Amino acid sequence: MWPDEQSSGRLKDGIDEKTFKDSVIIRRFMPEDLDAALEIDQEVFGGYDPNIFAAFYEYHPISSLVAEVGGQVAGFVLGFKHLPFEGRVFWLAVKPGYQNRGVGMRLMLEVMKRFRRLGALNATLEVRVSNKKAQALYSSMGFHMIGVCPAYYSDGETALIMRRRL
Ligand SMILES: CC(C)(COP(=O)(O)OP(=O)(O)OC[C@H]1O[C@@H](n2cnc3c(N)ncnc32)[C@H](O)[C@@H]1OP(=O)(O)O)[C@@H](O)C(=O)NCCC(=O)NCCS
Repeated sequence: MWPDEQSSGRLKDGIDEKTFKDSVIIRRFMPEDLDAALEIDQEVFGGYDPNIFAAFYEYHPISSLVAEVGGQVAGFVLGFKHLPFEGRVFWLAVKPGYQNRGVGMRLMLEVMKRFRRLGALNATLEVRVSNKKAQALYSSMGFHMIGVCPAYYSDGETALIMRRRL
């Protein structure tokens, strides 16, 4: 946010913060969201296979979510419960034009709520060692580093493993 916008409460597109916040809906990822999610995935250089997205909304419907703003998909989170008491965030992405407005945090808060409902006691995720923005977001939400996985990603980059209690 620019300083003058910060003081006026207005964002770059002229929508004030409260109106924007009120217009964000977090809901289940539906098959018809796939194209929009894939577009976001490309924009943020995710490069995940479309079949992965389909597997999430089919097999993990409770914890695969989108953020919708004015009828548009602004971001998504793909999560699953993979151990009796563990929720895992597989992938979180927000469309560049909608970033830094709390959408990522809202998606994370909702997926953690749903993990809890599924009986999870902890949430874990992995994040690229270079992705300081995501790390800052997760730290601000109570995640802490519990491990390091060298060469975790296909390009050889190290992953940090982060966890928080739910
Ligand atoms: C990481 C990512 C998901 C974060 O999404 P986001 O919607 O921008 O995140 P948020 O807006 O909730 O939080 C980001 C920052 O904006 C700040 N923020 C939140 N709401 C805000 C608001 N209304 N106005 C201004 N700033 C705000 C947060 O405090 C946070 O600041 P910080 O970086 O100092 O912690 C997004 O940058 C993204 O899609 N990146 C590419 C893919 C990626 O890296 N995914 C994570 C894989 S592990």
